[in-house]
Amino acid sequence: MRTLVQDKPTVLIVDDQLTSRKMLADVLMSEGYAVVEAENGEQALAIVPSVNPDLILLDVVMPGINGFEVCRQLKSDEQTRLIPVIFITSLEDKEARLKGIEASGDEFLTRPIDRMELSARVKSLVRQHQLNQDLDHAEQVLFSIARAVESRDPNTGDHCERLVHRGEAFGKFLGLARSEVRDLMWAGYLHDIGKLGIPDAILLKPGKFIPEEFEVMKQHVIIGENICKPLRTMRGVLPIIRHHHERWDGTGYPDKLAKHDIPYLAQVFQIIDIYDALVSERPYKKGMSASEALDLLQEEAQRGWRNPDLTRRFTDFIYSTELKSDNRPIWFERYLKRPAPDKAIEKIVV
Ligand SMILES: [Fe+2]
Repeated sequence: MRTLVQDKPTVLIVDDQLTSRKMLADVLMSEGYAVVEAENGEQALAIVPSVNPDLILLDVVMPGINGFEVCRQLKSDEQTRLIPVIFITSLEDKEARLKGIEASGDEFLTRPIDRMELSARVKSLVRQHQLNQDLDHAEQVLFSIARAVESRDPNTGDHCERLVHRGEAFGKFLGLARSEVRDLMWAGYLHDIGKLGIPDAILLKPGKFIPEEFEVMKQHVIIGENICKPLRTMRGVLPIIRHHHERWDGTGYPDKLAKHDIPYLAQVFQIIDIYDALVSERPYKKGMSASEALDLLQEEAQRGWRNPDLTRRFTDFIYSTELKSDNRPIWFERYLKRPAPDKAIEKIVV
């Protein structure tokens, strides 16, 4: 194994033939890449996590694990799945290409290798991978900032972690799409990132805000949306960040949206957020029991603040998953016995 890693894009060449590795390495190093070589599939799988290459050139036919299997393993691992893989093969047949596609390979190069084609494909896939990595890093930075914001407020404890876990569970309970469940989970960390722009004197003030202070506090949803807006992958989280303080009757903020004008995920997230605040112990208050908190949410729904159907579904979720109890409140028993809702309405609500 030859290793030459510097602060350059790194390509891992996996081939059992020394001459073949050398030819590819010479071309790539002359074009400014750092090159790492592995002479079989086992060696490649062992070094990928530490080398973290920007691209892998992978021979298909090798003793031991073949290239397709190496690729399949890399693409099924969360840590390595985004590394692009180019298969290098003498096999020109259709079957090999189909197997490569099945193994989630990104490109094929057929021997004899055309130098121009090699350069062009490596350049394009390495650039794509580096862009993806920058995006990953940007997301991580955002999550770190969000945690720092949470830690500014000693009252909230592990509020965000709980929101993430309950967001995932309730999202699945509602049958939401995978991407929507992910948005709910991300919102658990990011929904209040805009508090970064709220002065300590207001954010940490014990007791109630005066109207002027409340106006400043309301800005956290706009600031948070602006912080996350530049990231394309955050698109689904933005409506949750902006609208998690709207109310069903239009008396919330920042846009005074009412009923189904409030983005659905923002409605879902808000119920989880409020429930957690109610059941959590804070320095200035005891935590409510689950059934007390659900009663209060129900009262708020009756007052017009929350989506009544969604509030019932959340109650159903807590009783059927977290409490696993038959000791349900009377209003909820009545709800369970009610006639099936009109399909059209149910469709809009869900
Ligand atoms: Fe908030």
